[in-house]
Amino acid sequence: MANILLREKDIPGIGQYDTYVQHGGYDGLKKALGMKPDEVIQVVKDSNLRGRGGAGFPTGMKWSFVPKTEGPKYITVNADESEPGTFKDRQILEYNFQQLLEGSLICAYAVQASAVYIYARGEFWDIGPHMEAEIEKARKAGWVGQNIGGSGWGCEVYVHLGAGAYICGEESALLNSIEGKLGQPRVRPPFPAVAGLYARPTVINNVETLANVPQIIVQGAAWFKSIGTEKSPGPKIFCMSGHIEKPGNYEFPLGLTFRQLIEAAGGVRGGKKLKAILPSGASGPLLPATDKVLDTALTYEDVAALGSVLGSASVIILDESTDMVWATLKMARFFKHESCGKCTPCREGTYWLLKRLEAIYAKKATPADVQLIEDVAKQMQGKSLCALGDFATSPVMSALKYWRDEFLAYTQPQKPAPAKAGKDKVVAGGD
Ligand SMILES: Cc1cc2nc3c(=O)[nH]c(=O)nc-3n(C[C@H](O)[C@H](O)[C@H](O)COP(=O)(O)O)c2cc1C
Ligand code: SF4
Repeated sequence: MANILLREKDIPGIGQYDTYVQHGGYDGLKKALGMKPDEVIQVVKDSNLRGRGGAGFPTGMKWSFVPKTEGPKYITVNADESEPGTFKDRQILEYNFQQLLEGSLICAYAVQASAVYIYARGEFWDIGPHMEAEIEKARKAGWVGQNIGGSGWGCEVYVHLGAGAYICGEESALLNSIEGKLGQPRVRPPFPAVAGLYARPTVINNVETLANVPQIIVQGAAWFKSIGTEKSPGPKIFCMSGHIEKPGNYEFPLGLTFRQLIEAAGGVRGGKKLKAILPSGASGPLLPATDKVLDTALTYEDVAALGSVLGSASVIILDESTDMVWATLKMARFFKHESCGKCTPCREGTYWLLKRLEAIYAKKATPADVQLIEDVAKQMQGKSLCALGDFATSPVMSALKYWRDEFLAYTQPQKPAPAKAGKDKVVAGGD
């Protein structure tokens, strides 16, 4: 099947305006402009497109929450992409940007927004000029600015670079960041659909979510639902990294199994045995490499049934050589660094998880410390303002569930190494 999102694999240069238009680009927006805004929302609702930023929230329903009041409304495109192991949005921004732009404009028309803000992580500074140049080409063609396609509706598009904070991918922190405020999540309600950017109704969608929209409008909801599964329709980009032969982005219909995905990416590196999978970067619980897991379909509901999350589908593969204490420590360090510090359970919890994990890894801890990290993680769950507080507990809780013995082994007294024949007696006091 031809790629729907990673179209540059089939059509080199599709990210450039002229090539995009030669291959049907802006047919979706043209068609949408001939429909009533509510009809556009209904098609997206009927398609059952679910948000690709992590939570899988139904996109059409999100758009329908925007009130039909007068005054400015905004779209913010979430291109913060900071989850460890996630690099799919970057590929769309670099190689299929016009499709994202068209999808964002269709979304803007559907809710009658007057501006689109593309919020990209600071490290994407080198893609910024490319995005700006492509927006200008679309403007010259009449797709950005006043009276788009002669419809009487107008919309501006701005690119806004963040400063490299994971928390600014959280939608309300993202809004604060655009407004020039500290990038910390907001208390909700009010929700962004009602009072978002500059306190105006705002839709926030992930890059990949919006890149699906032009084809949904052109080919219809039934076409989209014919791809993937009933509850998780459509194509999905899977980011493959870790101990895998061919790391990179792979586009497949939702619903293929972990086993099929790993095979498509060349299998575990060096022919080693698979030990564990992170289906959703550092935020989603680890899964052991059992047959049950490997034969599970990659859909929002099936991965959830395993006790993990599909999230943004940043699949990190860990082979048999992986020390799970080391892996958990790395993730704990990430969350400690990225906690914005606004809530006590998250700020203090991530600090103490890291401290005790460092002690365990340094073999300076007791079995009580293993119990302690579990208790701290449990205390953090459900007690914070945003999902980062819960994400931070996922690696710890899941690693302890499946590999507790590895943590306990680090707390056992070291047996002295057997003396080697002919070697001088070790002098006490040596390091
Ligand atoms: C700590 C944290 C980081 C997040 N980072 C991102 C991100 O980089 N990109 C993204 O699209 N969504 C991210 N999200 C999810 C967003 O809050 C939001 O759900 C998403 O942008 C909605 O878009 P969607 O409905 O199209 O998925 C993050 C959430 C949290 C709690
Ligand atoms: S849960 Fe953590 S990251 Fe989220 S607002 Fe609270 S302190 Fe900040």
